Amino acid sequence: MAADSDTVHAVIRRYQPSDRATVETVFRDGMMEHINPAFMYAMTRPLHIAVSLFYYIGVYVMAGQSVVLALVSGGTWISLVYFCCFEFYTGYVRAKLNTDMQDIPGYYLSNPDNCFWVAEAEIHGRPQVLGMVAVEGKSDPGSEGKKFGEFYRMIVSSSCRCSGLGLRLAKIAEDFCRERCFSKIEFSTSSTQRAAVALYFRLGFKLVLVHTPSESPNFLYQGCIYISSV
Ligand SMILES: CC(C)(COP(=O)(O)OP(=O)(O)OC[C@H]1O[C@@H](n2cnc3c(N)ncnc32)[C@H](O)[C@@H]1OP(=O)(O)O)[C@@H](O)C(=O)NCCC(=O)NCCS
Repeated sequence: MAADSDTVHAVIRRYQPSDRATVETVFRDGMMEHINPAFMYAMTRPLHIAVSLFYYIGVYVMAGQSVVLALVSGGTWISLVYFCCFEFYTGYVRAKLNTDMQDIPGYYLSNPDNCFWVAEAEIHGRPQVLGMVAVEGKSDPGSEGKKFGEFYRMIVSSSCRCSGLGLRLAKIAEDFCRERCFSKIEFSTSSTQRAAVALYFRLGFKLVLVHTPSESPNFLYQGCIYISSV
């Protein structure tokens, strides 16, 4: 389904327990789509290009010009990299579905400094969740007694991207942070999530930190933190 007038007219409201199944689906799909960009990123790292060349050309030369062995070893290596990307994102989804996403009312709606919204529209006459965003208020060590807001779970269903829904969700979350008098808004993402990075630049966020290799699996992506004033 392409972006149409239904999605443009999506209503943004607080999460309700009846949204659980669709929210999980939109979340899972939104995260799993990062597997291919992460795989492309991983395969274009200089070290991984060198390993690929070794498995294809090196094995071909060392195994008496055996095309079959070269193809099998190179293919095994590439499959292993893809498997790592797949495992990383399925593990991430599993972990989140067992923590904050397992009990959204308990985690996000029972604390006045947190919130979770969904975007819902009538699709073919039936209400459907098309996007979500969450905010968590956290103590700000750099601003005495104040809190800052961190954005989580910003996802718009792939069926209705680029219709302004992400921007609307982010603005609702920003307004919430403003009402709570938070000191700033923070958002962590990765270099391969290009649409999210573009959306946050559009909102005036600035890149403040690139994670070190020990903080993020830098063979899959570069972890980044963006902040914006409230
Ligand atoms: C990031 C995401 C939420 C954006 O949702 P969206 O509804 O498509 O975004 P919008 O239509 O509101 O776009 C708002 C702005 O973001 C930027 N943007 C959005 N998608 C973009 C893309 N694919 N390429 C470049 N810029 C993009 C543009 O600046 C756009 O403003 P413009 O249309 O006036 O130029 C969506 O792409 C998504 O769910 N991605 C997968 C999940 C994800 O990575 N989430 C972030 C978690 S860390």
